[in-house]
Formats: sequence, C-alpha cells, structure tokens
Amino acid sequence: MPGIVIVGTQWGDEAKGKITDFLAGDADCVVRYNGGANAGHTVVVDGKTYKFRLIPSGVLQGKKVYIGNGVVVDPEVLLEELEDLRREGFNPDLHVSDRAHVVFDFHKLEDGLQERLKGNLRAGTTRRGIGPTYSDKTARFGIRISDLLDEEVLKSKLKILVDLKQRMISHVYEEDIRLNEEEIFRKALNFGRSISSYICDVSAEINEALDSGETVIFEGAQGTLLDIDHGIYPYGTSSNTIAGGACTGVGVSPKKIDKIIGVMKAYISRVGTGPVPTELKDEIGDRIREAGGEYGTVTGRPRRVGWLDLVPVKYSIRINGIDELVVTKLDVLSGVNPLKICVGYEYEGRRLDTIPANIRVFERCKPIYEELEGWDANINWKRVSEKGYGALPRQAKEYLERIEEHVKVPIRIVSVGPERRETIVLSG
Ligand code: GDP
Ligand code: IMO
Ligand code: MG
Repeated sequence: MPGIVIVGTQWGDEAKGKITDFLAGDADCVVRYNGGANAGHTVVVDGKTYKFRLIPSGVLQGKKVYIGNGVVVDPEVLLEELEDLRREGFNPDLHVSDRAHVVFDFHKLEDGLQERLKGNLRAGTTRRGIGPTYSDKTARFGIRISDLLDEEVLKSKLKILVDLKQRMISHVYEEDIRLNEEEIFRKALNFGRSISSYICDVSAEINEALDSGETVIFEGAQGTLLDIDHGIYPYGTSSNTIAGGACTGVGVSPKKIDKIIGVMKAYISRVGTGPVPTELKDEIGDRIREAGGEYGTVTGRPRRVGWLDLVPVKYSIRINGIDELVVTKLDVLSGVNPLKICVGYEYEGRRLDTIPANIRVFERCKPIYEELEGWDANINWKRVSEKGYGALPRQAKEYLERIEEHVKVPIRIVSVGPERRETIVLSG
C-alpha cells in the first residue's frame, strides 16, 4: 500500500499527528503537503509529548521526513524544531522542497493587520503569516526555498516584496513600522545556508520512493472544513487541506495515491471563528473540553467543542474519497450520558444533508440529533487498548457502529488515549 493520505475530516486537531506517528511505524517516508506552522501535531510516546508544526510526525519513528512544495515554511519554527529534536537525541532525515514558499516576519505582521480589518469575517487565525504567504505565492510575489540559495535572485525579489509590504503597512494599514530590507535579506540568506543540506526536489524523491515500492504517508494539516475551496469560507485556512492537496502539494500524480484515511474526533472541536452547528456552550461542553485537553496546540486558545456532527464527516468522505476512518478521543466522552450525534440539518423547515456554500444558510442550520446511551466514566483505557476492540464498553461499540451505519465507511482504528500505544486496530 505505497501512497497513503492522512486527512482531517473536521475542523483540524483530529489527532492526525498521533495517527501519522502510529502508522509511520510501517512506512518509509512521511511528507507534509500543506499548511505551515499553523499546524500543531501532537505525538505522545512513553509519557513524553512532542509537538510538531512543520516537521512531519513520522520523525520519531526514524523515517525519512519531507516538507513538500505546498507547505509554507517559517524559518524560525523549522530551526527550532530541528534543534529540539536533536536535543532529544533524534537525527531527523529531513528533506525540504526547493519549491516551498518562505514565511517572513512581515507576513505574520500582515496576518494580524488583515484580521483587524476583517472584523466579523476574521477567521481567528494563528497569526503565523499563513494567509499572506499563500497570497503572495498566488500573486507570484513569493520567495521560494530555492531563492534563498541564490543571493542575486533573493535580493531582487525581496526588493520588490519588501517595498510592496512597506507601502501596505504605511498607506493601507497606516502603521508606523519600518521594514529593514537589508536585515530581512541577511536573515533569509542565513536561513538558506543553515538548511541547504536538506533542500531538494521533493517531488522527484517521493516519486522515486513510490516507484521503488516504498510506503509514503502524506500527512495532512488542518481539516476539510478549513480547506480554502471546500471549507467554511472565509473562516478557514489558505491551503488545500483535502486529500487532493497531497498531489499538488508534493508533486505526485493522483494515480499514485492508493489509500485515503480520514481522521475524525468522536466529537467536534474548533479553534477560531465561524459557525459550528453542534457547538456546546454549556457544562457538557466544558466537561468535554477539560477531559479532552481542548486547548490550541499552537496558540493555547480554548477550543470550542460540541457533539459529533456527521454532516461534515460525510462531506469529507465525498470530497476526499475516504477509504477508512480513524475515530480518535473516544475516551473523552466517558461518563457523558446520553450522547448525541448530528445526522443532518434543518434549515427553514427543510432537511439538509450537506454543507451549504452560503455562510448565512450554514449559520442558521439546526442540528438533527440522534441520542445514544453513554458509557461509564471509569474505564481503564490502557487496559482496553491492550485487549483490543472486544474490551470496549458495549455502548462505545454501539456509538462506533452507528457512525459506520450513517457514513458507510469502515472504521479501522480507534484511539482511546494520547499515547501511541493507546490505539486499537480493528480487524477486517
Ligand atoms: P492534530 O493537529 O490533528 O495532530 O491534533 P492535535 O495534536 O492538535 O490535537 C490532538 C490532541 O489530543 C493532542 O493533545 C493529543 O495528544 C491528544 N490525543 C490524541 N488522541 C487522543 C485520544 O485518543 N484520546 C485523548 N484523550 N487524547 C488524544
Ligand atoms: P492542525 O494541523 C485547527 C484555523 C485557525 C483559524 C483558521 C485560519 O493542528 O489540525 P490560519 O492561521 O491558518 O490562517 O488560520 O484556521 N486553523 C486550525 N485549526 N487546527 C489547525 O491545524 C489549524 N490551522 C489553522 O484557528 O480559524
Ligand atoms: Mg493540531
């Protein structure tokens, strides 16, 4: 099974990092195809927690890790992650695409200024410069990793870009901030030098790996509802988070993708703004937030939480072509009784079974719930994960079976704790 995409089916933070690390045990390479340091992917091994924003989550398994052209690279974050890993005794076999774009400090500044201007339409971004960097890429103002290795090209490109940014800062946003072109140039050049040994044509390397029968995991960042085209626009991110993004974000043919795995939380969480039909603003929500540690990996913001909504999951299954589902954080729902799952929306007396494009319609969608019996609060999840699926409480199995009945895609893995080993693989 050489080309496997791991994609988030909800609003991000579905535990893609944990699942990527788990599945990377049987893979040769892991490649990130979208997003940047807005991602926060957590892996917990033997009580130790690792958080990755740019480096693929397969790194702890000692696999070859790649940053594809579709990723926007924040130099400071990448260098920091490398240093942290080395300090922990890892020696990452990292490869960075020469075609990936670079995030500059002025992009982060612009991110905040844009949010201020947008008012109610702001997405509550991570302020990592993601939107502005992708905008510059699309407008063809961007600086690519390969540019960092050519002083002349870098200087001429930065001259235009810094001038443009300065005009925007001074005249559009009316801020009294001066950009120092020479300093920006020096910093970028130094970054290029410090990562020069990692820079390569990632598309060529990944295609070669696939052609020689190696298993490659394409690790998605964010989730389907944050996708720039198919997400809840404009309350999402600026990249294609969906499985299709793996092809454009790495440079492989759709023919090379053999399996698409959708990761879904047993409930929903959302960090940032925009409508969330099943959001719980009551004590059940607080309980789930605390039990699930639902605070942003990157920003520390409390995440909004709610009942499992199957409308986005079904939408994700269609857009991504999901073959198998992974349900995560099932343990978090322990002791919540009854449980509810949203199986459709009601909008002005009509039933809706998919996500509408119109944000005003989505805002007014009322969830149609099914109620299920919850399970005991005191379950020894470590023991359950050792014993396997059969050891799950009857009600938890019913919860999973009901999800499968609705979405018509098999659940292959169930995660019942943050640790790598708290993972149950279902047979079949
Ligand atoms: P990602 O962005 O999709 O990789 O997800 P995050 O790492 O941002 O958020 C997932 C959080 O849930 C992390 O803190 C994980 O350590 C934790 N986690 C992952 N799987 C489970 C699980 O099955 N149960 C519990 N309780 N926590 C989990
Ligand atoms: P992972 O990979 C959850 C959200 C932000 C904001 C919107 C746009 O850890 O699942 P951006 O900084 O990308 O311009 O912000 O998208 N967002 C995420 N939410 N998980 C993420 O990544 C996210 N990355 C961005 O909160 O609403
Ligand atoms: Mg995350």
